Amino acid sequence: AAMSGATLARERKELRQQEAEEAEQQSKVDLSSQWHDPMANPDSRQFASDLRNSKLNAGKSENVPEWRRAVALKDQSLGKRTNMSMKEQRESLPVYAFRDQLIKAVKENQILIVVGETGSGKTTQLTQYLDEAGFSNNGMIGCTQPRRVAAMSVAKRVAEEVGCELGQEVGYTIRFEDKTGPSTRIKYMTDGMLEREILIDPDVRRYSVIMLDEAHERTISTDVLFALLKKTLKRRPDLKVIVTSATLDADKFSEYFNQCPIFTIPGRTFPVEILYSREPESDYLDAALVTIMQIHLTEPSGDILLFLTGQEEIDTSCEILYERMKALGPNVPELMICPIYSSLPTEIQSRVFEPAPPGARKVVIGTNIAETSITIDGIYYVVDPGFVKQNSYDPKLGMDSLIVVPISQAQANQRAGRAGRTGPGKCFRLYTEAAYNSELLPTTPPEIQRQNLAHVILMLKAMGINDLLHFDFMDPPPTNTMLEALETLYALSALDDEGLLTRLGRKMADFPMEPDLAKVLIYSVDLGCSEEIMTIVAMLNMPTIFYRPKEKQTQADQKKAKFHDPHGDHLTLLNVFNAWKQSGYSSPWCFENFIQFRSMKRAKDVKDQLLKIMQRYRHPIVSCGRDTQKVRQALCSGFFRNAARKDPQEGYKTLVEGTPVYLHPSSALFGKQAEWVIYSSLVLTVKEYMHCTTSIEPKWLVEAAPTFFKVAPTDKLSKRKKAERIQPLFNKFATEDDWRLSAQRRGGRG
Ligand code: CDP
Ligand code: MG
Repeated sequence: AAMSGATLARERKELRQQEAEEAEQQSKVDLSSQWHDPMANPDSRQFASDLRNSKLNAGKSENVPEWRRAVALKDQSLGKRTNMSMKEQRESLPVYAFRDQLIKAVKENQILIVVGETGSGKTTQLTQYLDEAGFSNNGMIGCTQPRRVAAMSVAKRVAEEVGCELGQEVGYTIRFEDKTGPSTRIKYMTDGMLEREILIDPDVRRYSVIMLDEAHERTISTDVLFALLKKTLKRRPDLKVIVTSATLDADKFSEYFNQCPIFTIPGRTFPVEILYSREPESDYLDAALVTIMQIHLTEPSGDILLFLTGQEEIDTSCEILYERMKALGPNVPELMICPIYSSLPTEIQSRVFEPAPPGARKVVIGTNIAETSITIDGIYYVVDPGFVKQNSYDPKLGMDSLIVVPISQAQANQRAGRAGRTGPGKCFRLYTEAAYNSELLPTTPPEIQRQNLAHVILMLKAMGINDLLHFDFMDPPPTNTMLEALETLYALSALDDEGLLTRLGRKMADFPMEPDLAKVLIYSVDLGCSEEIMTIVAMLNMPTIFYRPKEKQTQADQKKAKFHDPHGDHLTLLNVFNAWKQSGYSSPWCFENFIQFRSMKRAKDVKDQLLKIMQRYRHPIVSCGRDTQKVRQALCSGFFRNAARKDPQEGYKTLVEGTPVYLHPSSALFGKQAEWVIYSSLVLTVKEYMHCTTSIEPKWLVEAAPTFFKVAPTDKLSKRKKAERIQPLFNKFATEDDWRLSAQRRGGRG
C-alpha cells in the first residue's frame, strides 16, 4: 500500500511538537511576532500545562465570561431527536432529495462541483448514490479526505449503511494502513494517498469516479490533485471528478475547471445566535471551560462543541471538566465528555457519534477536525475560542513549525454553523466583536502558500513535471518558496545542477515521507545499517514513547536513562525498540519500563510498512550490529542542515544560520560534552530546543552534502582545527544566483 507522504510528514511534525510540549511543562507559544493577537496580551495567557498544575482543583474562576447579545433571537424549543432506522436516516439528509439529479449531473458532466453545508450528506451519500447507479462497475469510486480520522470514520459509517464489513465493499486507505480488498467499490482515502497512486499510475485506471472532498480546506495535496487530475481527465474521457466544498468559494473552483457546472444542495440550517465576549479573554481555556459549565447548568438541553488547538489542551480540558463536574456532586445532570483529535485511538473517537444517555448532555472537545470534516449530530451550542494550530514554513529557519494562530472569519462562521444543524443554536465566541471584524483575516490562505514544498516538488519531478513555474496550480505557491524547495532538493542531491531529478532523487520519491528521511533510508543501505535506520525512522514517527507520570518522574527518568546511548537520542530510540523486541514485544515490559505500549506497537506497524517499501524497491535490509557509527553517518546524509556546534558560552549554534539552540534536558546527550550534533527538528518553547539529538563528526557532513558544505581554507588553521573545521556554504549568494538562473531557464523553455 502506498502512503501519504505529506500527511506523514505533517503528522510526524505535529506529533513531535506535542511530545515536546508535554516534556516542557511551562510551554508557551509565542504569538506576538506573527500576529497581532486580537484576544489578549499573550504573556498573560495560560496554557494547558499551567492549567494542569494550578487550576485542576480550583472550584471557581474569577474569569467568568460575559456575553453580549449580537443577534437577538428568541429561544425556541429544541427539536427532539428520534431513533430512526438507517434507511430513514439516509433519506432524511438534505442531499437525498437531489439523488437522481446528482446522478444525472455526474453522467452528463466530466467535472462537477458540489456545494453543500456540513452534514448535508455529501461525503457519506454521494459515493453510495454513484455506486447504486452502477459507476463502480467500471472502477472504484474514490473519495479523498484531507484528514485520516475523517477517512476512517466516514468509511466506517458508510460500511454500516451499506451493511458490509469495513474493508470489503467499503474501505479506506491512510498512511501505514490499507483497509481495502478486491471487492472494494467505495474507497475513502487521504488526499496524500491518491497523490501517491497517481505517481504510480497517472491515469488512475482503477477508478471510475474520484471525489475530491473537503476541497475548501485547500491542503497541498488537494491543490496538487486538482492540477494532476485536470490533466488526467483529458486522457481519460470516461473518468468523472467531483469536487465538493462546504463553503461558497465554488466559483473559483468552477473557473479553474473550465467553467464546469456547480450543483448546490440547499442548506437546511437553523439560525445561530452569535454571542461575543465583551472583553478580550486573557485565558481562553479557562473561559471556555467556564462557559461549558454555564451552558450545562443554565441552558436548555442540546450538546456542546468546543474547538481547541491540540491534543494536550483537549486532554487537559476533559480532565478539568471531569473534576469540576465531580466536585458538583450527584445533583447536577450528567455531562458526557468526548475528546476528538487525530491521534486519538479509534475506539474513543467513535464515542463522539454516540448520543448522550437520557437526561445527560454531551460535550465534544475537538480540534478543527470538527469544523467540516466530521459531522456530529445534536450540537446546539458551539464554544469558539478563535484559535487553531497551523503548520507554517519559516523560510529563514528552513523548517516547518506549528504555531497557534487566530482563525479566519470564514472558519469562525463555519464553526458557528455547527450549532444550527439540528435546531436553532448558539455560538459563544471567546473574543470581541471588534476583534472578529478587524483582526481576523477573511479566509485562511491555502496551505500551498505557507508550507515547505520540497516533498511535493520531488513528487512532481518524479512524475516528469519539470516546468514548475508553469504548472497549473489554482493558486501558485510563491516563487521564493519553490526555489527554496528546489535548493533543498539540490543540497540533498535529489536534483542535479540543472534541476533535473537524479537517480537518487527518483528513489527518494518512492518513499512517502519528507525527502530528508527518504535519503537517510536509502543511504543506510550503502552504509550497511538499513535495519537500524528503519527502526529509528519508525520510532521518530511516534508522538510519545516514554511515559512520565507526574508522581513518578524520578523513577521514569531512571528507567529511561538505562536506554540512553552515549551518542544520543536516535540510538536511544533504537535501544528501546530492540530491548522491547527482546522481550517478545511484551506489554508488561513496556509498563515496567515506563514506555507507551501503544506507541511501540504502532512503531512496529510502521516499521513493517517501511520494510515492505524497501523490499518492493529492492533495497537490501542490512544490519550494522554494534557498529552504530554507521547509523549516525546515515542520519547525517539527510539531516546535515540540522547541524549545530557547541557554543563556548552556552548551548549550541546552528551551522546554517548561527541560531542559538539548546539540548533538551531529556536528551541522552544532556550534560555530556558533544561538540558537533545533528537534530531531527527544532521545537520552540521557552527556548529553541533541539529535538532528538545525536553527536557526529563534522567530516561526515562534508561527505553527506558536498554541495552544501565545504572545508574551510586550511592554510591558517591549526592541525586540530584542520581536522574538524568546516563551514557552511555561506557564499550562498553565488550558488543561489546560479540556481535561480538555471531554474528560470528551465521554466522559460517549457
Ligand atoms: O459531507 P457532509 O458534511 O455533507 O455530510 P456527511 O459527512 O455525509 O454526514 C451526513 C450525516 O451522516 C451526518 O449528519 C451524520 O448523521 C451521519 N454520519 C455519522 O453518523 N457518522 C459519521 N462518521 C459520519 C456521518
Ligand atoms: Mg463531508
